[in-house]
Amino acid sequence: MEKWMEIPVNTAYRLINHGPLLWVSTCSSEGRYDIAPIAWSCPCEMKPTRVLLVMDMEHQTYHNIMETKAFITCVPHSSQADLVRKTGAVSGKKCDKFVVYSMECFEGEKIKAKIPLGCIGYLECQFLETIERVGTGLVIGECVRACVLRDAFNERFLTEKKQGKTLHHLGKSIFAMPSDTILDQ
Ligand SMILES: Cc1cc2nc3c(=O)[nH]c(=O)nc-3n(C[C@H](O)[C@H](O)[C@H](O)COP(=O)(O)O)c2cc1C
Repeated sequence: MEKWMEIPVNTAYRLINHGPLLWVSTCSSEGRYDIAPIAWSCPCEMKPTRVLLVMDMEHQTYHNIMETKAFITCVPHSSQADLVRKTGAVSGKKCDKFVVYSMECFEGEKIKAKIPLGCIGYLECQFLETIERVGTGLVIGECVRACVLRDAFNERFLTEKKQGKTLHHLGKSIFAMPSDTILDQ
């Protein structure tokens, strides 16, 4: 049984501060769920946390966000690399990825979207604005609720522990995960 704890939206940026790959989970206005890996992202405001995503405007994920004005950014665990690859290799326009890949999930509390089991944190976000530039949307959302697994977090992700190993995209189909931590003595 996963043990989640809610953290304040003002510190939620700590779930994404170190640049992990994110799963962006959405739902269309007709109720079709979708999920896609997005490597290009960062926090862009702290109080409350806001998130910036760089996204191809052709993605079903982008269409869903424009329709429903909402999304959830999930932080996958490094053990989910293969599932990340698979969900990034096909569009939600063609299939229901949650069904095709037998993904066990639970629903967000404030945002209608699915969170895959095995993720170690997530930010439920309201869409704020998009800046559209030649096929690419810079999507900004505001965190309205954030949760993290107890074992993986203590004021920061415990990336030195197995439970806190996030996934970092190096390019192509290759990932890295964090190793050493440099503590402030
Ligand atoms: C590791 C990985 C990282 C990715 N990062 C991004 C990204 O930062 N921005 C983007 O637009 N697409 C990115 N993609 C591509 C989308 O995830 C992919 O095209 C996906 O199938 C889109 O699904 P959708 O149409 O259901 O939204 C990435 C794919 C992978 C596998």
